[in-house]
Amino acid sequence: MRGIFRNERYPVFYSVIYGRIIYNDSMITNISEFIKTVDGAAEYIRGVLAGKEIPSVCIVLGSGLGPLSSMAEDAIEISYKDIPGFPVSTAPGHKGSLLIGKLSGKPVFMMNGRFHYYEGYPIETVTFYVRVMGRLGVKALLLTNAAGGINVDMKVPELVAITDHISFNAEPVLRGPNIAEFGTRFPDQCHVYDPELTDTLVNCARDLQIRISRGVYAYSKGPQYETPAEIRAWRILGADCVGMSTVPEAIAASHMGIRVAAMSCITNMAAGITGQALSEQEVFDNAALASENSCALVKEFIKRVNL
Ligand code: HPA
Repeated sequence: MRGIFRNERYPVFYSVIYGRIIYNDSMITNISEFIKTVDGAAEYIRGVLAGKEIPSVCIVLGSGLGPLSSMAEDAIEISYKDIPGFPVSTAPGHKGSLLIGKLSGKPVFMMNGRFHYYEGYPIETVTFYVRVMGRLGVKALLLTNAAGGINVDMKVPELVAITDHISFNAEPVLRGPNIAEFGTRFPDQCHVYDPELTDTLVNCARDLQIRISRGVYAYSKGPQYETPAEIRAWRILGADCVGMSTVPEAIAASHMGIRVAAMSCITNMAAGITGQALSEQEVFDNAALASENSCALVKEFIKRVNL
C-alpha cells in the first residue's frame, strides 16, 4: 500500500464513491511520509514567524475561550486552510485559525478551533496539529473544553482541572505503526495531565477566587450526547465530567513528551441528571457565562507557568 493513509488523499478523510460518502478508517501506513507532512506544516509556520521567537506553550481555545484570541498582542493569524496538511474544523462555534502572539507578556500559540472525531476525521487528523506543535518545540499544551457535569456536586458553569481521563471506549489514538521519533510504542498513562501544571491551574483559580474543582474527564466520541444509563455507568466508573474532545490531543501530546494541562467548563449537567433534554444552546450560553473567568484563569496560568 502506497501513500501515508489508505485513501492516499490526506487530509481528505473520506472517499466519495458513486456519490456516496464512504467512511474511511484511515491509519498512518507510511511513517516517513507522515513525518514529512507534519514537518511541512511546522516549516510553513516557522516561515510565517520569520525569525520571531517560537512559543513554548500552545493553548486550545474551547467553548467560551474565543475572546482570548482578541487579547493576544502583536498577533499573527494563520488560517488553517493555508497551512499545508492541516485539516479545517467544521464544528459550530469553532473558528479555523492559528494565532501566534503574546498573552500575559509571553509568546503563545492559540488554536482557534480544533478537530473532533465526531466531525468524521481519522484520529491521526484530530491530533495532527499536536504533532506539528511538538515538532515546533512546544513544551506545554493547555487544552480547554466544554463538558457535562457527571459529579452532582458540580455547579454550572464551574471550571474543572482535569486530572485524568477514561477513554477505553474510544478509537485508540496511537493505533498503527509507532512513530519512534515522536514517542514510545507503549507510553505510560499515569501522568497524561502534568501534576505540576494542574496544580498551577488550580492555584491560579484559587488566587483569582474562581471556583474550580479537580476531576476525571470521560471521553465521549459523540456527536450525540450520552444516554442517562451511560452517565450512570461513567459515574460508577469514577468520571466527574464528560465531553467530546481533549483526550486524543492529550494522549498525542504526552506521547511526544509535551506537558499537558486541561480545563473543562461545566456547561450543563450530564444526561439524566436534571430530567431536561441537553442542548447545544445551553452549552454555548453557559460557556459564555464562564468566559470571563475562563479567560482570566488562562491569562494568569500563562503568566505563572514555568517551562
Ligand atoms: N456531553 C458531551 N459533551 C459535552 C457535554 C455533555 O453533556 N456538554 C458539553 N460538551
